[in-house]
Amino acid sequence: MSTFPTSRTEIAGVSVAELARRFDTPVFVYDAAVIARRLTDLVAFDHVRYAQKACSNLAILDLLRRQGALVDAVSAFEMRRALAAGYQIDGCPPPIVYTADIFDAESLDLCVDRSIHVNCGSTDMIEQFGGRAAGREITLRINPGFGHGHNRKTNTGGKQSKHGIWHEQLADCLELAARHRLIVSGLHMHIGSGADLEHLREVCSAMERVAMEVGDSVHSISTGGGLPVPYREGDDRVDLNAYYMLWDDTRKRLESQFGHPVRLETEPGRYLVAESGFLIAEIRAVKRQADNVFYLLDAGFNNLARPIIYGAYHPMSIVPSDGDMNRPEQDVIVGGPLCESGDIFTQEEGGYVVTRRLPEAAVGEFLVVECAGAYGFVMGSNYNSRPLAAEVLIHDGRAHLIRARETFEDLIRGEVIPECST
Ligand code: LLP
Repeated sequence: MSTFPTSRTEIAGVSVAELARRFDTPVFVYDAAVIARRLTDLVAFDHVRYAQKACSNLAILDLLRRQGALVDAVSAFEMRRALAAGYQIDGCPPPIVYTADIFDAESLDLCVDRSIHVNCGSTDMIEQFGGRAAGREITLRINPGFGHGHNRKTNTGGKQSKHGIWHEQLADCLELAARHRLIVSGLHMHIGSGADLEHLREVCSAMERVAMEVGDSVHSISTGGGLPVPYREGDDRVDLNAYYMLWDDTRKRLESQFGHPVRLETEPGRYLVAESGFLIAEIRAVKRQADNVFYLLDAGFNNLARPIIYGAYHPMSIVPSDGDMNRPEQDVIVGGPLCESGDIFTQEEGGYVVTRRLPEAAVGEFLVVECAGAYGFVMGSNYNSRPLAAEVLIHDGRAHLIRARETFEDLIRGEVIPECST
């Protein structure tokens, strides 16, 4: 069962006040040891392919690469990030896989010209890739007809999902692939993010059915991502052993059917990085209105969008400047600086504002939003002309800047005032 403190003075052995002083706020801080531990949890799988969309800083990619993780990319620039972080192209299994439902011109060029492995989520992708890369191996991402997620917006299966090849169209896709002499060497399913174990399990049997239909060209299967992490006090950790055993059984049945080994990959994003990440913000105003108390921070949904988009819950803690870890607690609403009433970290799905029990705190003290490593920085924006935050990686008790805070010049780079004739 998970517990989260409501007061803290350190992150990974480094003083929060010191981090804030050195790197300014708001700042994302990642603990490298947590990422390494989460990767080790998944050691039973043949390969762990990191879904870098969760947190794609080069330093995080480099860290995971050096510890043996493969990588998934969903755009041309994510492929280029993987390359910039030292991932090679050649290898079995392919170090980088492009998983998407479309190619834009640049991603198609990269996959064709640099021989990056493709996981096709639409018949159009098969057609477009096959037209230029006959003879190559591909993976198919299948929508098994059902899905599940922590929120309707993170459900990636079922007939209303835009993701993957609809399971009933598999035969047509195989025919199309054969026409282009493409070899379907792998299968992939991802039904949603933050799904519970029961739903994730359903994927195994769907995978088996699909693999039997494709036949013995299949040498790898991927569970997709979606492994949940505990975000709330009292949440249990997912039973990884049970999850692995089901997939391993599926893989073994396919191996005996096909008479050759079948690699088992898993593709987590959140599981590897969510718990490693902390967003440090400064409390810049404490407002009392009727019976509501607000802590207003210098970080908003421009830094962490999950609460406003999904009503997502993140643990929070106060950093008491006097070191008193036993301050009285009160119910507070935590909000950001943006000129938008939805800029509230304590909200539920639908935008309902709720309170959080946190220690008393004053202007100038810091508040830490926890479990913010996945879909945190990467979903940030420049709304209200706020710069993207700095990112810091703590390794063996030392803090390293891995992305500088944006400057005003960074912010307006590329903007042009045209010379209009009057
Ligand atoms: N593989 C595929 C094909 C995916 O689409 C995703 C996530 C993953 C793997 C990794 O899923 P994870 O293990 O991280 O759950 N912004 C949302 C999550 C959207 C995930 C999109 N795809 C959030 O903040 O919860």
